[in-house]
This record gives sequence, C-alpha cells and structure tokens, in this order.
Amino acid sequence: MKTSQNTILITGGGSGIGFEIAKLFSNDNQIIITGRNSEKLQKAAAQLKNTTAIAADITNENDVKTLVETLKKDFPNLNILINNAGSASVFDLATPEINAFQKASDEINTNYLSIIRLTENLLPVLTTKESAIVNVSSIVALVPGKSLPTYSASKAALHSYTKTLRLSLANTSVKVFELMPPLVNTDFSKEIGGENGVSPELLATDLFKAFENDQYEIHTGQTADMFNLYHSNPAAALAVMNANGE
Ligand SMILES: NC(=O)c1ccc[n+]([C@@H]2O[C@H](COP(=O)([O-])OP(=O)(O)OC[C@H]3O[C@@H](n4cnc5c(N)ncnc54)[C@H](OP(=O)(O)O)[C@@H]3O)[C@@H](O)[C@H]2O)c1
Repeated sequence: MKTSQNTILITGGGSGIGFEIAKLFSNDNQIIITGRNSEKLQKAAAQLKNTTAIAADITNENDVKTLVETLKKDFPNLNILINNAGSASVFDLATPEINAFQKASDEINTNYLSIIRLTENLLPVLTTKESAIVNVSSIVALVPGKSLPTYSASKAALHSYTKTLRLSLANTSVKVFELMPPLVNTDFSKEIGGENGVSPELLATDLFKAFENDQYEIHTGQTADMFNLYHSNPAAALAVMNANGE
C-alpha cells in the first residue's frame, strides 16, 4: 500500500493511537479525523498539517450518514479508512449488579457494529481506487483479559470480521489490515496500567511499515510474543495475560 498521496479517514483521530497515525501520515497525505468531542478534535487538527476535523459519533446512524455524505462531496479521493475509535469498560463479571449487559452493548456497538456500518457505507468509494481499510483491534481479541471481559469479546468479533472482510475483498482494489496493539500508553488505558505500555507513536510507525510491506496483520510490541505463545500453548497465554489477578 502506498504511504503518500492518500486521503485517509481516521475515526478517533483526535487522541492516542489515532492522533499519532494522523501525525505520521499528515506530511504526505490528506487526513480527516473524527470523534465526538468537537473541541478536542479541532485542537488536534490545528496541530497537524493537511488535516480536517469532522465531529461524528460512529455509533450514531445520522452522524454516520452525514459524515459519509460530506466525505463523498468534499473528499472524493478518500481511499483509506482507519477504524480506530474504541471504547472499553474495566470490570469483573462476578460483581453483582455491574450491568454487564449495558457495558457489553456499548462496546459491541462502538468496537464492532459501528465499524461494519461505516465500512459498508464507504466501500463503494473505496472499491473504485487503490484503497485500504485498517481495523484497530487488540491482542485481547485472541487472548482475553479478565478485567476487560466484554471489551475482549468485542475485539474478538472485530478480529473475525476483519479476516472475512479481507477474504471477501481479495479480488478488489481494497487491502484489509488489522493493527493489533498490546497495552499502549494513552488515556484509554489509564485504568489498566497504561503507563507501562508501548508508546502510541510505535503503533503509527508499525502501521506505516506494514503499508510499505503489505503485511496485513500487525503485531506490535508484546503482541508478537503473546501471539506466538497463544499458537503454541493457548492455556499458558491465557494465564500470562491474566497473571496479575485483576
Ligand atoms: N490503549 C491501549 O492500551 C489499547 C490496546 C489495544 C487496543 N487499543 C485500541 O486502540 C484504539 C484507540 O485507542 P487509544 O488507546 O488511542 O484511546 P483514546 O486516546 O481514548 O482514543 C480513542 C478515540 O476514539 C474516539 N471515540 C470513542 N468513541 C467514539 C465514538 N462513538 N465515535 C467517534 N469517536 C469515538 C475518542 O474521541 P471522543 O471521545 O472525542 O469521541 C478518542 O479520540 C481503540 O480501538 C482501542 O480499543 C488500545
């Protein structure tokens, strides 16, 4: 996949991993970032070259409709969709009245269903040119974390969908990538010791390299070790992932 002269939509591009991807690619590409918080998004865009902020909640059908119409009108060259926005709840399934159903609903909506809707709506734009879709999942898609039970399940759904999307689009001009971060130091991971995680810049750099090499599944940092352990000894991988007893 080429790394310059693209028009790239990054959901959740106003902070964390999405922002670092926007920053790295903004030198030689046109960038559009989305998020719910318009002020945060505008501030982020103001720090970057060639970047436009469009506020949109990816879980809201009307927002997505308006976003897609705007993109078709103002950015007809759009050729990369980075499904990065995500949400997570840290909790224990054994806690009484934790409302796991509501937490799971929010996560499955943001991390899985909304991605399917946005992708489906943008596919007609993407299939007319050399394009890419990048889904940002997580190592917990393969090896779930006990403190992120329904989030892990939502990322497992995204991982599975990404594989079938890649197969389905194999004979088109659209390449399907999956970025599988380990723990990353962003606001998102504060509750789960994110300060011990890798930098979001590393994820952006790895995505850039993966584009250059057409490497479709990207295992940054500890994801690579956990991926290998999972395939050689799944029980050991689950034990290591949950070793801190949280
Ligand atoms: N940090 C980690 O340890 C880690 C590990 C594995 C995977 N990931 C994944 O990496 C991705 C990025 O996370 P991050 O760590 O960079 O966290 P982050 O800094 O909190 O970024 C998440 C972004 O998503 C946006 N967002 C959330 N819900 C949205 C919605 N409904 N519509 C539109 N935008 C929405 C947020 O902006 P608004 O609040 O303004 O909407 C925010 O800019 C997520 O998919 C996450 O699951 C993170």
